[in-house]
Amino acid sequence: MALREIVKFGEDILRKKCRPVTVFDEKLWTLLDDMKETMQQAQGAGLAAPQVGILRRVCVIDVRDKHGVIELVNPEIIEATGSQTGGEGCLSAPGEWREVERPATVTVKAQDRNGNEFTMTGEGLLARAFCHETDHLDGVLFIDKAIFTEEQA
Ligand code: NI
Repeated sequence: MALREIVKFGEDILRKKCRPVTVFDEKLWTLLDDMKETMQQAQGAGLAAPQVGILRRVCVIDVRDKHGVIELVNPEIIEATGSQTGGEGCLSAPGEWREVERPATVTVKAQDRNGNEFTMTGEGLLARAFCHETDHLDGVLFIDKAIFTEEQA
């Protein structure tokens, strides 16, 4: 495993749409392992492939719950209900913290590192992470969805 450099806000690559993963090989496994290590070293709750310069639909999430590290390949949000508003940050924007409204409960359909399909439902922080990380795969950043407060005006 190896640490990868995290791309920061302002880089064009963070605005690109990622392509689906079609080959589940050692190259993908290395990417996932490296992303996991990079996320943990940076103490983040999630990391998407474009943040390490790879335009593929891959992300890792760790909200320190019972699931541990979750690997999502080709994730798709298939159900989202309710709403929650809370502080959100991103490893590509150190020190930035904004209020963002997200669904309260989110179900994703994804593939694991071997290509097996699964679904997973998360609430609270996990629901927020599912949304934040899948957004990255379409070039959408949390600042696009931040609630504009008077304080920032
Ligand atoms: Ni992010």
